[in-house]
Amino acid sequence: MPPLLFFSLVLSLLPILAKSTTDPGDYAILLAFQSSLDNPEILKWPSDSQDPCGPPKWPHVFCEGNRVSQIQIQNLGVAGTLPANFTQLSMLSNLGFQNNKFRGKLPSFRGLTNLKYAFLNGNQFDTIPLDFFGGLSSLLDLSLDENPLNQSTGGWTLPTDLTDSAELVNLTCSKCGLVGPIPDFLGSLSNLNVLQLSYNNLTGMIPSSFAGSNIKVLWLNNQGSSGLTGPVDVITQMPFLTDVWLHGNSFTGPIPDSIGALTALTRIWLNSNQFVGLIPSNLTSLPNLQDLQLDNNLLMGPIPSVKYNFTYSGNSFCASDPGVKCAPDVTSLLGFLHGLNYPTHLDSSWSGNDPCVGDWMGIICSSGKVAAINLPNLRLNGTISPSLGNLDSLVDIKLGGNNLTGQIPSNLSNLKSLKLVNLSSNNLAPPVPSFPNGVTLLVANNPLIDKASSPSPSTDSPNTPGTQITPNSNDNGNENGNRGTSKKSNNSAIIVPTVCASLIAISLAGFLFYYKGKRRKASTLMPETSIVVHPHDSSDPGSNSLKLAVANGSNAHTPRSEPHSSGHSNIHIIEAGNFIISVQVLLNATKNFSQKNILGRGGFGTVYKGELHDGTMIAVKRMEASVVTNKALDEFQAEIAMLTKVRHRNLVSILGFSMEGQERLLVYEFMPQGALSKHLFHWKPAGLNPLSLKRRLNIALDVARGMEYLHNLGQQSFIHRDLKSANILLGDDFRAKVSDFGLVKLAPDGKYSVATRLAGTFGYLAPEYAVTGKITTKADVFSYGVVLMELLTGLTALDESRVEETRYLASWFTQIRTDKQKLREAIDSTLDTSDEETFASICTVAELAGHCAAREPYQRPDMSHAVMVLVPLVEKWKPAKDESEEYLGIDLHLPLLQMVKGWQDADVSGTTASTDMSGTYSIVSLDSKGSIPSRPIGFAESFTSADGR
Ligand SMILES: *[C@@H]1O[C@H](CO)[C@@H](O)[C@H](O)[C@H]1NC(C)=O
Ligand SMILES: *[C@@H]1O[C@H](CO)[C@@H](O)[C@H](O)[C@H]1NC(C)=O
Ligand SMILES: *[C@@H]1O[C@H](CO)[C@@H](O)[C@H](O)[C@H]1NC(C)=O
Ligand SMILES: *[C@@H]1O[C@H](CO)[C@@H](O)[C@H](O)[C@H]1NC(C)=O
Ligand SMILES: *[C@@H]1O[C@H](CO)[C@@H](O)[C@H](O)[C@H]1NC(C)=O
Repeated sequence: MPPLLFFSLVLSLLPILAKSTTDPGDYAILLAFQSSLDNPEILKWPSDSQDPCGPPKWPHVFCEGNRVSQIQIQNLGVAGTLPANFTQLSMLSNLGFQNNKFRGKLPSFRGLTNLKYAFLNGNQFDTIPLDFFGGLSSLLDLSLDENPLNQSTGGWTLPTDLTDSAELVNLTCSKCGLVGPIPDFLGSLSNLNVLQLSYNNLTGMIPSSFAGSNIKVLWLNNQGSSGLTGPVDVITQMPFLTDVWLHGNSFTGPIPDSIGALTALTRIWLNSNQFVGLIPSNLTSLPNLQDLQLDNNLLMGPIPSVKYNFTYSGNSFCASDPGVKCAPDVTSLLGFLHGLNYPTHLDSSWSGNDPCVGDWMGIICSSGKVAAINLPNLRLNGTISPSLGNLDSLVDIKLGGNNLTGQIPSNLSNLKSLKLVNLSSNNLAPPVPSFPNGVTLLVANNPLIDKASSPSPSTDSPNTPGTQITPNSNDNGNENGNRGTSKKSNNSAIIVPTVCASLIAISLAGFLFYYKGKRRKASTLMPETSIVVHPHDSSDPGSNSLKLAVANGSNAHTPRSEPHSSGHSNIHIIEAGNFIISVQVLLNATKNFSQKNILGRGGFGTVYKGELHDGTMIAVKRMEASVVTNKALDEFQAEIAMLTKVRHRNLVSILGFSMEGQERLLVYEFMPQGALSKHLFHWKPAGLNPLSLKRRLNIALDVARGMEYLHNLGQQSFIHRDLKSANILLGDDFRAKVSDFGLVKLAPDGKYSVATRLAGTFGYLAPEYAVTGKITTKADVFSYGVVLMELLTGLTALDESRVEETRYLASWFTQIRTDKQKLREAIDSTLDTSDEETFASICTVAELAGHCAAREPYQRPDMSHAVMVLVPLVEKWKPAKDESEEYLGIDLHLPLLQMVKGWQDADVSGTTASTDMSGTYSIVSLDSKGSIPSRPIGFAESFTSADGR
C-alpha cells in the first residue's frame, strides 16, 4: 500500500515537482500537518511557496538535501492534532514540539530510523499507540513529559520496543500517565544518563537491573497514591548517580551504609517515604553532596550537622537539633531496633530522647528507667542486639512469639536487675548463655535450642543455673494460639479458655505491678515474688487442673512445683446448665416480647428490655430462628456456655440463655445509657448532652481493656469481628462495655456477611478481612481504630451522603491525621481544641487511631498497646480519685499473693473467677439454682441498635 500511495502521490504532484526542490511527499505532509492545526498562521508558512526547504526556507523547518529533517516550533502556542501520516516525514531527525497545545493521538513513530531528538513534552497528547516505539535506532533524547497519555484507558507502560533505541541518553516521561512497575530493560540501556519518570503512578521496586547502569540523573519522585516501594539498596550500585529524586513514594528500610559508594552524588531527596533507622554518616559525608532532603520519614537517632542544604523535619529523631547525641538508653534501644531491621510499628512510636516519656511501644519504665521490653507476638525479624546488654535497669525482656534468629547475646546475663527473659517461640540458636540465679529464662519452642537441649519436662536444663523453662510454656502467646493444641471436646472446650485466662491473668497481674510501680515512682519494681505457671500435661486424667507455684523471692529460681504438690488449685467447671433460664421467666419479664419493650434490632435478632420480679433489669435478645439452625443446636449450646464464661467489667456478658422449641433467647445485663453511637451521632435528636473528652477517653480505654481481654483468652482467643460504636454500650456512669462478641461464630456460613452488609458495618472492616475473609485479632484492632476516630470526630465510620473524600472515615482520617491544622478542624466541634493540653491528648489518641487502623495487619499494635497509651491520658483527665477502681468492690491495691488467695477461696466456694486486664478479679457467683447471678452487677443489655452503622 504505501509504495502505491506514494506513487500516485508523485503522479498527482508532477507539475509542482518540476519547479520545486523539496521532496513533494514531505511537502504534502507539511500541508496536511498545517491544515490539522487550529492556528496555522502562527507558523507563518508562505502559501505561495511549495518549497519548504527553500531557499528561502519556510520558518521553523530545516532540511537535509530536499528532505525535511527538523521542525522547531517549541513554545509557540501551536494548537491542534498531528495527522496520522505525519511520520511519513521519514528523514526527521529532530522534532521540537515542546510546550504547545497539541492534543489527541500521537501517530506511531515506529521506524523513524533517523530520529535523534523528539521533544513532545508539555502538550495535551492523550493517546500514545502501543506501536509508537520500535526501530527508533538513532534516538538520543525522548521527552514525553506532561502529556496525559492514555489516562482515560488506565495508563500505559514503556514497551520493550524501546530497547531498539540502544543509543538513548535522555528519557523523560514525568507526568505522562505511566502505571505499573518500572520496566527491567531500562537498566540495560547502557547509554542512558537521564531517566526522569516523576509524577506517574509507577509501583513496585526499583528494578535490580539498575545495578551497574550508567544513569546519572534518576527522578522517580511522587508516584501517585501508593508509589514505589521496597528498599533502595540497588541505587548504591549505580556509581555515576549525581542527582536522585525518590521523594513522595513508599520506599522502606534503612538508608544503606553502602550509599557511601555514590561519590558523584550532589543532590539526593528521599523525603516523604518510610525510610527507617539511623542516617548513615556515609551519606552525610559524601564529598560532592550539596542538597539532602530527608524530612517526613521514620528516621531515628541523632540529626547530623552538615553545611549544605539539609531538611530533616517530620522524623523520629532523638533530639531536635543537629549535632546533639542521643541519651545512652536511647542509643542502646536504637541498636536493638537495628538488630530487628527497624520494624515500622516500633520505629514510628520510638521517638524522642527518653524512652520513659511519650509512647514508646513495648517499653515499660520504672522510676524513669527502662524496666521492661515487652514486645511479644509482633513478628519481629532479626537478631537480638548485644546493645540490650547496656540497659542496666532492665528487669523483664519479653520477646516471645517472634521470629528472632541468631544467638542470645551473652552480655544479657550481666544485667543486674534482670528477672525474666522470655524468648520462647522464636528461632534462636544455641548456645544459651548462663544466667544467674533469680533470672527466669523461657526458651521453649526455639527448634534449634530445643533440639540441642532436648529438655525433659521435669528437670531444669543442666547448663542454666537460672530457671529455664522449655516445655509447654503457654506464656509464649503464640498468636494463632494453636501450638500445643488441646482438642476440643465438650469438657476441654470449657476448661481451656479458663486455664488460659488464668495464665494470662497471672502474667498480667505481674504487669500491673510494673505499671503501678511506674505510676507511683516506687523504688522497687515488683514484690519479691516470682510466679511460674505451667499447665499440666493434657494426657493426664487430672488435666482440668492448673498448677500454680508461688515462690518467695529468696528462692525464686525453684518455682517449678511437682504435679499435685501443694500450692496448686483446681479450676471449678461450671456446667452449662447453670445458665439455662426458662422461656416462661423471660416471657413474663418482657411482657410477652411486647413491641414497647424493643430496645433495638441487629443482625442476630431483636433485643427487648425486661424486668425480673425482683426489679432487676435485663436485656433479652431473641435470635431469629434462621440464625441458629437446628443442626447447629449442640454447637449453639456449647458456644453459649462458653460465652457465659467470658467475664470482664468492660464486656457485656451473657448471663443466661433459653432454648425451647424455636426460641433462642440470650439474657444480658441491661445498659441504661444504650449504645455509644447514639451519644456520638444522635445526641441532639435524643435530647442528650455531647460526650466530654474525659468520657470519651474513658470509653476508649474501657473498650481497649475489654477487647484486650477477649483477645487474650488463650487458645480459644475470641475475635469480636463486629466491633463498632453501636456494639459499645454505656452504663449510667458512662463507662463502656463491649457487646455482641462471639455471636458471629454461631451464624451459618455466609449468613454473617449478609448481615454485615445490611447493618452497614463496612466502614469498620479491616481491608484484609473485607477482601479475604481471613480474620485475626488485628481485624478487631482495625475496627477499634475506627471507633477511636469516631470518638474524636463525631463522624460515623461510613456515610454515603458525605463527599467522596470523607465518606470512609478510616481512609480520610488516616490522610489528614498528621496535619495538625486539618486534624484540629476534623475534631468534633463539641470538643474544645483551642486548649493545647486538650489538643495534645487528642493528638495522642489520633495517632493511636491511625496506628490501629494501619493498612497492614502486622503494622497494627495489640490491644495492650492501646491500653498502655490510654492509661496515662485517662489519668491526666480524671479527677483526684477514680471511683471506677472500686467499681466491683475489689481492692486493686491488694498485693498479688492476697489476690491469688482470694481467687482460690472463691474458687473453692463454687464460684468461677476470671480477671480483667487491670488485674482486678471480677468474681461472679452463681446461686444454687444457677439462674441469674445472685449479685447483679447493674444489669445491662446488649443489642445492635437500629441506628447502628
Ligand atoms: C494525510 O492525512 C490527512 C488526513 O489526516 C489527509 O487529509 C491528507 O491527504 C494525507 N496526506 C497525504 C500526503 O497522505
Ligand atoms: C540530556 O539532557 C541533559 C540535560 O538534562 C543535556 O545536558 C544533554 O545534552 C542531553 N543529552 C542528549 C544526548 O540529549
Ligand atoms: C494516578 O493516580 C492518581 C491518584 O493518585 C489518579 O488520580 C490518576 O487517575 C492515576 N492515573 C492513572 C493513569 O492511573
Ligand atoms: C560505609 O560505612 C560502613 C560502616 O558503617 C562501611 O562498612 C562501608 O564500607 C562504608 N563505605 C562505603 C563506601 O560503603
Ligand atoms: C539551598 O536551598 C536554597 C533555597 O531552597 C537555594 O536557593 C540554594 O541554591 C540551595 N543551595 C544549594 C547548595 O543547593
